[in-house]
Amino acid sequence: MPKAILFRKFQKVGEILESYHHEASNLIAILQKVQEEYRYLPEEVLLYIAEMLGIPPARIYGVATFYSHFTLQPKGKYLIRLCDGTACHVKRSTGILEKLREKLGLSEVKITTDDMLFTVETVSCLGACGLAPVLVVNGDIYGQMTPEKSVELLETLIAKEEKNARTA
Ligand code: FES
Repeated sequence: MPKAILFRKFQKVGEILESYHHEASNLIAILQKVQEEYRYLPEEVLLYIAEMLGIPPARIYGVATFYSHFTLQPKGKYLIRLCDGTACHVKRSTGILEKLREKLGLSEVKITTDDMLFTVETVSCLGACGLAPVLVVNGDIYGQMTPEKSVELLETLIAKEEKNARTA
């Protein structure tokens, strides 16, 4: 595809690249910004970045797969990360995970709902052990969770989405 057309298609990515002066040494920061924009790293965007920075796609894939923070799979609008570190595990984080998966029809393999609203992941220690068990939704921390509280949280988010859909 000609560069001008590619630039229009990936205008936001182009702006991010520009803000980092098209320097390959800023690759990690660039990928972070791109992931904030798309909530994951789409393959075609990675190829575009490789072309624009003049580096091999393999190098970008190497970085994108090395850091667990990056994801090549699309995620839901609400990314729920449940801590399964020791302190949270001892305080029964497993029951919360099972409840969330049950409510959303998810499993260890299927982690995102079909409507792309929710993704449920487990992570190791979130650094808030005093609040165990802990989960994070799009960066907001919820401590001392229980299966019941996690369902209430889901219901609040779903109600918010339904309200948004009605007023849209
Ligand atoms: S073990 Fe869960 S926050 Fe540390």
